[in-house]
Amino acid sequence: MLKKPSDKYRPFPPVTLPDRTWPNRVLTHAPQWCSVDLRDGNQALAVPMNVAQKLELFQALVRRGFKEIEVGFPSASNTEFAFNRLLIERNHIPEDVTVQVLVQAREDLIERTFESLVGARRVIIHLYNSTSPAQRRVVFGKSKDEILAIAVQGARWIRERLDRLKGTDVRLQYSPESFSGTEVEFAREISEAVMDVWQPTPERRMILNLPDTVEVAMPNVYADQIEWICRNIRDRDSLIISLHTHNDRGTGVAATELGLLAGADRVEGTLFGNGERTGNLDIVTVALNLYMHGIDPGLDLSRLNELREVYERCTGMTVPPRQPYAGELVFTAFSGSHQDAIKKGLTEWERGGRSHWDVPYLTIDPSDIGREYREVIRVNSQSGKGGVAYLLESEFGIELPKDMQREFGPIANDQVDALGREVKAEELRQMFWREYVDRTAPWRLNHFHADGVDGVFQCRTTLRREGSELKLTGEGNGPIAAFVHALLGAGVPRFEVADFKQHALASGETASAIAYIRIKTADGRSRWGAGVDTNIELASIKAVLSALNRL
Ligand code: KIV
Ligand code: ZN
Repeated sequence: MLKKPSDKYRPFPPVTLPDRTWPNRVLTHAPQWCSVDLRDGNQALAVPMNVAQKLELFQALVRRGFKEIEVGFPSASNTEFAFNRLLIERNHIPEDVTVQVLVQAREDLIERTFESLVGARRVIIHLYNSTSPAQRRVVFGKSKDEILAIAVQGARWIRERLDRLKGTDVRLQYSPESFSGTEVEFAREISEAVMDVWQPTPERRMILNLPDTVEVAMPNVYADQIEWICRNIRDRDSLIISLHTHNDRGTGVAATELGLLAGADRVEGTLFGNGERTGNLDIVTVALNLYMHGIDPGLDLSRLNELREVYERCTGMTVPPRQPYAGELVFTAFSGSHQDAIKKGLTEWERGGRSHWDVPYLTIDPSDIGREYREVIRVNSQSGKGGVAYLLESEFGIELPKDMQREFGPIANDQVDALGREVKAEELRQMFWREYVDRTAPWRLNHFHADGVDGVFQCRTTLRREGSELKLTGEGNGPIAAFVHALLGAGVPRFEVADFKQHALASGETASAIAYIRIKTADGRSRWGAGVDTNIELASIKAVLSALNRL
């Protein structure tokens, strides 16, 4: 890299708009969405989709509620043309869905595009030509006037052919491609020249799509460009201002959101941001960002995993694990403090403690988009007691007392650390069993029976210790107290029961109970124990021995 990058690169010139209004606005409703998965997304694939794959993705987009879908560039290849014909001739386009097709300002391509549309119910014909200084100089070697003439000529060729599509509801769209790299004054001039040809009205508006073809500046600059156009172009009410951002600087979503604040009506993008280079705008993210602020996005993303599967199957792309909302790991916390906070927040929410979602670290309720709470907490060596406790409780109904969580958390953590990987809930359960429930040496219970009269309990018990059997009796104000008394009578160093909790573990025929007991010795040591049995009394007696065995 250069020591002095300014020798090679320069700052992007800002738009002069000192009275910009977009920073003071908030979004209150969803824009008109247009999916460009089958065109811009498809163009970016090493192996473009075949007709069957395009159809599967088209149908998935329709099911999610997209009403405008750019289905391709029909003059670009036989596959693209055939796909249009298949959609139209096989009646795959629902009545309320408009298909959009892209075409350059070339007469032969426009001609072929019209042929591909015959018989369609509703279409958007999308004309584009590139307008930025770099494109004018490097690619076309043309002046502004010559570039403007290309757009006007393209618009005329389209207008002249409109009567070929009698019976089709045709809307027109123009994109000054590389808009964000173009002088705003020239972008306005060329757009108005196209408007002169197409003569849009408030009743029959034209779509003016303003692409951030390559992200060349910060998203606030794009917002300024959009607000500048919205305020300075003539007949704004005859236009649908559309955004089409890419993601070269990683701020495609931000640019679209600020562009909406700046006055745009419509958004083009793709599922999960597939598209050239760093991708197109990720529509799913923008839609769910609106949703998390309580705005209906007008798209049904409630089975996002399923949509991701269709997308991955059709495009051959994979959604990265950290992709907002859709990534495998985005509703997962490994860090202990995060897990603890999420667990508390989810418990509060499930108890109906709040009217609006406010769970730490989770921007939305994962179940709203078909993801599961189970996915939320996973355990590795970074995890703390909260995650361990959450998994034991959510997977097995083991409700560890708080203080016991503090004891078992580090024990589990050491074992997970030694394994050097993430552990499954079942592995955690086994660790818990080894540490507590299966601790049957040196003391093991063979038999226990207690009877109580007037609050005084007598117990008889048979225990095994290092190969020999001991028959003991004891007395106390409950079965546990009587058992402790029996043990102390057998010479066990003095201890008392300091904490106790028990609950049913499962229902049905295999119903069992789990008891947790903390004992405290006369010399100040404290240990938890756990016992499991179909008999709740025996579970607690086993828990006492488990704690004793852990001393
Ligand atoms: O990114 C872009 O500018 C495009 C246009 C064709 C709209 O995809
Ligand atoms: Zn694009």
